[in-house]
Amino acid sequence: MLAQNPRKMEVFDYVLEVKDLSVIRSGKLVISDIDLKISKGEFVGIAGPNGSGKTTLLLSILGILEANSGRVRIYGCEPMCRSNDGRISWVSQAASNLPNNLRITVRELVKLGAISSRNMFFPNRNRINSIVDKAIEMVELKDVEHTDVARLSGGQRQRAVIARALASEADFIILDEPLVGIDREARSSLLKLLDGLCHDAGKTILMVSHDLAAILQTAHRMIYLEESIKFDGETSEFPELTEIAELRGIKPVHDESGKNQQTPEPVLIREEM
Ligand SMILES: Nc1ncnc2c1ncn2[C@@H]1O[C@H](COP(=O)(O)OP(=O)(O)OP(=O)(O)O)[C@@H](O)[C@H]1O
Ligand SMILES: [Mg+2]
Repeated sequence: MLAQNPRKMEVFDYVLEVKDLSVIRSGKLVISDIDLKISKGEFVGIAGPNGSGKTTLLLSILGILEANSGRVRIYGCEPMCRSNDGRISWVSQAASNLPNNLRITVRELVKLGAISSRNMFFPNRNRINSIVDKAIEMVELKDVEHTDVARLSGGQRQRAVIARALASEADFIILDEPLVGIDREARSSLLKLLDGLCHDAGKTILMVSHDLAAILQTAHRMIYLEESIKFDGETSEFPELTEIAELRGIKPVHDESGKNQQTPEPVLIREEM
């Protein structure tokens, strides 16, 4: 009888399922009551102010941070379970802030992504080289593949770390602020690349970004996080800025006439005659 691929026998409804998740860091409740389900092929964006728990949520999904309560399932099993080895790749916040004295070429960096516990000891060099070629081509860095990453522009570095993630051939790609520090042109090509990965390669993408305008152009679904999920829905339904302010409990400073509503009326002090 032929040995079957154990992954083919797995049954799961969602790539990611988060239920009632709360996480405490240094005694402070950072995220609470998170319920989230992501299906295969979705491109989900997460936005929220600084310190609202976006990175904490991603680290909890990856199993790097422990849940205080609730649970996370990726492809039906716990984060970091063995059967998910190689299925998830993560581009961390500021991943492209590589030290300037690091002597490593783009190709070498990307190759690191292709090495895993599955092929580390008996690598198939031809296969690894073709995966690396493909990842470098996808991010359009072929002409600089033998250049030190320290000599690349911010956008090129960002694409190099994304190529490293692609070289792992993971199905679920998690990116934390991949648009920071890259120019407009590089940003557009990166978003196009991610969109293509979703539509053409069937990857599932979860991406945190402060760049609301950019992420709203790309993600199919948006989440607005501020400790808990304040919005989760179709990108076209994403609230306007004034509604976001309301969600955050920020009141307008000026009334309709443009007068500052929050400054108390000045107290007139009569000078003693
Ligand atoms: N290692 C840590 N120990 C304790 N608290 C932390 C730690 N890292 C972050 N925090 C706190 O957790 C909260 C959420 O941080 P987190 O990094 O998840 O926010 P974020 O939404 O990703 O912010 P940013 O947009 O700045 O990246 C913040 O109040 C932060 O101070
Ligand atoms: Mg963060």
